[in-house]
Amino acid sequence: MREKKRNLTKNKAKLSINNKTYEFPIYKSTEGESVIDISKLHSIANIFTYDPGFTSTASCESKITFIDGEKGILRYRGYDIEELAKKSDFIEVVNLLIYGDLPNNKQLKKYKRLITRHTLLHDQIINFFQGFRRDAHPMAMMVGVMGALSSFYQDTLDIHDAHQRQEATRRIVAKSATIGAMAYKYSIGQSFVSPKNNLSFSENFLHMCFSNTAEEYKISPILSKAMDTIFILHADHEQNASTSTVRLAGSSGANPFACIAAGVSSLWGPAHGGANQAALEMLEEIGTSKNIRKYLNKAKNKKDPFKLMGFGHRVYKNYDPRAKILKNICQKVLNHVGIKNDPILKLAIDLEKIALREKYFIDKKLYPNVDFYSGIILRAIGFPPEMFTVIFAIARTAGWTAQWTEMIEDPIQKIGRPRQLYTGNKPLKYGKNRSKKNTR
Ligand code: SDX
Repeated sequence: MREKKRNLTKNKAKLSINNKTYEFPIYKSTEGESVIDISKLHSIANIFTYDPGFTSTASCESKITFIDGEKGILRYRGYDIEELAKKSDFIEVVNLLIYGDLPNNKQLKKYKRLITRHTLLHDQIINFFQGFRRDAHPMAMMVGVMGALSSFYQDTLDIHDAHQRQEATRRIVAKSATIGAMAYKYSIGQSFVSPKNNLSFSENFLHMCFSNTAEEYKISPILSKAMDTIFILHADHEQNASTSTVRLAGSSGANPFACIAAGVSSLWGPAHGGANQAALEMLEEIGTSKNIRKYLNKAKNKKDPFKLMGFGHRVYKNYDPRAKILKNICQKVLNHVGIKNDPILKLAIDLEKIALREKYFIDKKLYPNVDFYSGIILRAIGFPPEMFTVIFAIARTAGWTAQWTEMIEDPIQKIGRPRQLYTGNKPLKYGKNRSKKNTR
């Protein structure tokens, strides 16, 4: 396997097992934690490391996104998220994530035209939607249709062809919004609305969701900017569960559409991207600030599976910078749609204030994350909670395709194949030792 130039630290990591000491190289990062390369551990010491949930494990090397969880910093290719949210737009951020630097005006214009020209879907894909029940969750349609794209775009399945890889990433990002809008239209029983080439990515998404055959949706610059900012904020986030799923699927050589469908599946979970829908539903269940104490007690009770949705994060042990930006956008969007005092926003702000004074939340460093305020904005724009994770998935196609590309182009990339701590039966003979239980 090809080696890689590394930024080695002077001293090595030492591990002593059964009175034998092993040394492992430590690689310095550009920013943040260094890593110990233990890839030779099993071959020299016949032992595995054990890290369920990968709390202390770097699964890969990446140049795409940096997070400092203690300081609440998020950067895409070195650019602070606050600056990108203010000055950039989603398609420029897609280009930045995939190609590594900001495009010049000519490149950006060309890239936007390429993305726009991929927003249409093959006409037969409409049949896939007909197969879903009307009350199917829109994420079920996202998973199914995204995977099906591989059967329609067979000229971009060769992962070893750089042009096909790039074309596949453009198709995935562009078509994800069209699929998401179609899933929404299908779930509300309205006919599909085609994309328009004279609209920006975010304007087009709002148009495809909210126009109908009787009336053109009037696109407001405030709402399309809020939509675009939400897409930027959700675009990538290092090696989170869904991105790791895309990388693992891609490591077997699976085609890009199948890998992204796997990422959509993982994102759907309420502990991950499904938290934005769960957070709004939780706020609606809490109802008023009077009930906050009852729910905080539930969240602190180990015996109660209830968690404060939109709170806590594996990496951020400080305020999620994306939540800060979203909190600031909330009132602007609510004012624009004529909701001066939204009881749900007031409840969210009260809940945050009280929770952040609680010892339990302080000790465990639990802060609002990206999912705590996003639902309030999306609901104000006009989306039902079931569409929140679809919107997250559309945005994250940028990060998934960028991370997938980086993995495929990594010279030391190989199939991901973790091992285990086996604690099952010792060898048994086939025969009498059958289960004594009468139910299974
Ligand atoms: C996203 O990884 C990413 O980058 C994800 C994401 C991205 O952009 O890709 O940022 C998007 O998924 C944001 C997270 C959305 N999920 C939620 O809001 C769901 C609620 N949050 C929790 O489920 C939890 O905080 C996680 C899943 C987000 C993080 O879980 P970890 O890192 O495994 O932390 P943990 O569950 O071990 O929690 C540590 C402690 C535990 O208590 P102890 O066992 O130590 O006593 O904190 C408690 C947890 O019980 N805890 C919570 C809590 N979150 C953690 N207690 C109450 N409410 C919560 N929300």
